Amino acid sequence: MATLTIDTKPFDGQKPGTSGLRKKVSMFQQANYLANFVQSIFDALDDLEGATLVIGGDGRFYNEQAVQIILKMAAANGVARAIVGESGLLSTPAASCVIRKYGALGGIILSASHNPAGENGDFGIKYNAKNGGPAPEALTDAIFKNTQGINRYLISDADDLDLARIGRNSLDGMTVDIINPVADYAELMQNLFDFGKIRSLFKSGFRMQFDAMHAITGPYAHAILEGMLGAPAGTVVNGMPLKDFGGGHPDPNPVYAKALFDVMFGENAPDFGAASDGDGDRNIILGRGCYVAPSDSLAIIAANAQLAPAYGDGLKGVARSMPTSGAVDRVAQAKGLPLYETPTGWKFFGNLLDAGRISLCGEESAGTGSDHVREKDGLWAVLLWLNILAESGKAVSDILADHWRTYGRNFYTRHDYEAVDTSAADDVMASLTAQLDSLVGRQVSSETVTIAEDFSYTDPVDGAVSSNQGICIVFESSARMVVRKSGTGTEGATLRLYLESFEPDESRHTLDTQVALEALVEVAETITQIRAKTGREAPSVVS
Ligand code: G1P
Ligand code: ZN
Repeated sequence: MATLTIDTKPFDGQKPGTSGLRKKVSMFQQANYLANFVQSIFDALDDLEGATLVIGGDGRFYNEQAVQIILKMAAANGVARAIVGESGLLSTPAASCVIRKYGALGGIILSASHNPAGENGDFGIKYNAKNGGPAPEALTDAIFKNTQGINRYLISDADDLDLARIGRNSLDGMTVDIINPVADYAELMQNLFDFGKIRSLFKSGFRMQFDAMHAITGPYAHAILEGMLGAPAGTVVNGMPLKDFGGGHPDPNPVYAKALFDVMFGENAPDFGAASDGDGDRNIILGRGCYVAPSDSLAIIAANAQLAPAYGDGLKGVARSMPTSGAVDRVAQAKGLPLYETPTGWKFFGNLLDAGRISLCGEESAGTGSDHVREKDGLWAVLLWLNILAESGKAVSDILADHWRTYGRNFYTRHDYEAVDTSAADDVMASLTAQLDSLVGRQVSSETVTIAEDFSYTDPVDGAVSSNQGICIVFESSARMVVRKSGTGTEGATLRLYLESFEPDESRHTLDTQVALEALVEVAETITQIRAKTGREAPSVVS
């Protein structure tokens, strides 16, 4: 076996975004495209020689081929040991767990999260560092710089490995351990939660539906929920990961997880419903006849985490992304917990978690997590909810109503305008930015603007400043709107409008969210002109 040095040249568009490099599968299939990016990662790492790397992905089309290429390149670049999930599978939180547990230098995760998969779908790759979290900005910058000047990559000419066989292999001098992708993660979950209590809950007849949406969480949910926790067979639906995710769009929201909503709002609904996304880091929570908005879920978890053994001593602090509703702020205030407001994206939580400033964090986009790994974690959130339900003996709907009664309700909605014309989206952002100063004090219908700002964040741990993180407008009524351009869309531009109002009056807590926010939607249109400027009559997704 020999190491080959292949001549190559830079490709346009190999700039990694906040979630790594995400492109159409066909882009990745071009000769040298993936290899360029992988070598650019390797060249940016100082301690690669002799290191351990974790490799795995969400099982989408091209996952296995990519793993084979990466393994051969890792061997050629002097990596001592690769830990790979069986068949190349690892959910994003499980990869984070495995990196931390085995003291790896880092890991390469193959996923485009919830984006559609299959031959015509998306593929993605990202590098996670030793703490198990997304690469810090300095590293992604270095990787990008490497992609612009790359002229060769190293690859072994060894044969493909059989990834379906668990055990130790050798690839051109590199040890390759193919591991059960679920085992380490399941063990961690068992250490965090009271599995005995949850098992008794299922024994008592408690019914649940978990929709794995034909993506990576299927094997995890089958093993943990139905295996270790004794939930009846059939609790997990769509549990077989498919290369094209069954043609679906595994983003757990009311639109793409409609089948689960129909079950939970239908006749004879189970007690509890949940779903995760393509790579297993997102979650949604439902009860019989009710949906827990992600921002509320974060607040409820923060208020009740102490019911689970791992958080029995209380939380160190909590964090939410800026567009996430202020529901968790009210819990933090009541409990005297430090609260951090970060820009969108998981990486900002990493520093706070590493520094021990927070134990819990989350985003409105159905991501919640804690200091157990350095990624958001879908099944973890589901298990924490199960632990809370088992300890409290309450129904999901009662937990939600009780929470609003105690803290008030933050009505919250996100309107996405997907795949709009990039210049129209830029125009919306630019004209908003230009009028920030003149907005303060302006009255629009029944709302008066008190704060209008372009959100900027100074990391309290390392002092790094991240600017232009979204436009945030606060009204006298304490209602709030946020507008930002998505960093993960792959077609045109996606504009996100986030709207929130606070309702202390319990008699109004059962109002429909869209009804409660109807007037604010129009105020937002007056200020942003999103519909007018993009030519869209309505958002593509309302969640
Ligand atoms: C979206 C979500 C954001 C999340 C990211 C990665 O990013 O809004 O909360 O961290 O996906 O899962 P966006 O497309 O808005 O930039
Ligand atoms: Zn995801």
